[in-house]
Amino acid sequence: MLPPKMHVLFCFCSCLALAQPFDWQDPKPVAHMKSSAWVSKIQALMAAAGFGQTKIPRGNGSYSVGCTDLMFDYTQKGTFLRLYYPSQDGDPSDTLWIPDKEYFWGLSKFLGTHWLLGKILSLFFGSMTTPAAWNSPLRTGEKYPLIIFSHGLGAFRTIYSAIGTDLASYGFIVAAVEHRDGSASATYFFKDQSAAEIRNKTWLYLRTLGKGEEEFPLRNEQVRQRAEECSQALSMILDMDRGKSVKNVLDLEFDVEQLKDSIDRDKIAVMGHSFGGATVLQTLSEDQRFRCGIALDAWMFPVGDEVYSRIPQPLFFINSEHFQYPSNILRMKKCYSPGRERKMITIRGSVHQNFVDFTFATGKIMGCLFTLKGEIDSNVALGLSNRASLAFLQKYLGLQKDFNQWDALIEGKDDSLIPGTNINTTDHHKQNLKSFLKILLKNCLKVCVCDFNALSQITHIKKCRLCHSSD
Ligand SMILES: *[C@@H]1O[C@H](CO)[C@@H](O)[C@H](O)[C@H]1NC(C)=O
Ligand SMILES: *[C@@H]1O[C@H](CO)[C@@H](O)[C@H](O)[C@H]1NC(C)=O
Ligand SMILES: *[C@@H]1O[C@H](CO)[C@@H](O)[C@H](O)[C@H]1NC(C)=O
Repeated sequence: MLPPKMHVLFCFCSCLALAQPFDWQDPKPVAHMKSSAWVSKIQALMAAAGFGQTKIPRGNGSYSVGCTDLMFDYTQKGTFLRLYYPSQDGDPSDTLWIPDKEYFWGLSKFLGTHWLLGKILSLFFGSMTTPAAWNSPLRTGEKYPLIIFSHGLGAFRTIYSAIGTDLASYGFIVAAVEHRDGSASATYFFKDQSAAEIRNKTWLYLRTLGKGEEEFPLRNEQVRQRAEECSQALSMILDMDRGKSVKNVLDLEFDVEQLKDSIDRDKIAVMGHSFGGATVLQTLSEDQRFRCGIALDAWMFPVGDEVYSRIPQPLFFINSEHFQYPSNILRMKKCYSPGRERKMITIRGSVHQNFVDFTFATGKIMGCLFTLKGEIDSNVALGLSNRASLAFLQKYLGLQKDFNQWDALIEGKDDSLIPGTNINTTDHHKQNLKSFLKILLKNCLKVCVCDFNALSQITHIKKCRLCHSSD
């Protein structure tokens, strides 16, 4: 089964009818772009979206947060990551959220839409920032626990900044890896040393499934590569911690020598969303340096059967209410065995994209249309997920902080949480396809009606009730 990624977007785009043929390979601007009716529709929606809340929230913890990118070495096999860290106070500028237009093109390919959508997204979101101080000096005088973070299918290193900055504000160093397994919307490396010097990037876009190609072998190979990339990123950061000289290929203002003696080397966790959740399992099974793992709305399909019994470390599943389905939950349950710490909670009214920055980047209407938002407020949802994560990390990394104030969340004790799962796994064979089709139909209908309302009554768009209904 397809991961029900942003299935609504497929609907959205078919509803709007693709005005031009798909022409992904040659993303050059089209002269008549401005006059296209299709474009003005989207622009109208985007403008309407602006009424809603559009800011990625600041971290809630007491540390200021800095951000930088690290690449080493320059090849496709090297490590590329975005680092969030406790920084010295001061007021340097925020971090550019999606720093290259190619990422937007990649997103439009992932969404199966015309590349023009990528162009439009880049117009709207290309200058948006995230609240972390770009290249700000590291706050010294403390060793920090480390989290390696793995992104989802069609994502990339920068779009989990709400999680990264929040955890860093509580005193973690968070390294969000960009995977080169063909699962990122886009990523880049350099062909050779001289290309690296002049920043001539070689772009690698999402690898889509070929016609008739079986999905599992591809995904399984990818999840293995992803786990290797997480381990390699950890090794690189630990090398820097030891004071080994590692030169950042990107040659940014942030001096990597500051990372010497900055890591609390026994306190290392792995965390990830969706495909990144599967990566958490694979990584834990292969690399015992990771002491525990948190899988956010994990997509379990890529994980091979042999992995489930090979995870001695504590593992925490934080699920959304609307993404999960029986076969996926059954795979999670395979990780459970006596003597192993397993926790699972579900956030009521949440959707798969509640863990990704896009949930904050759009207003309420767009968020509903694209199912980037659920019925639950996005701040509340991520707040629950992050606080439950902090409590879990304190418990299983042995931190001396006050995150145990949120211990009840690990057990799902909150009005907005469900302990365990909302999914009934007893009759999964029938439910699987049925519930998927139901969701698809529901969302398609919702989108069509919303779109119609939006266009005919753009000023009343906020009143589009269907956007707010859950069923
Ligand atoms: C950048 O790299 C591409 C492909 O490797 C090459 O064709 C192009 O000439 C390079 N550009 C510059 C300015 O060196
Ligand atoms: C930050 O704190 C506010 C107010 O207490 C809360 O609503 C929100 O969920 C928190 N956000 C995160 C990401 O923890
Ligand atoms: C789960 O589904 C089965 C079969 O449809 C049903 O008999 C059972 O009562 C359901 N369990 C719960 C907890 O809803």
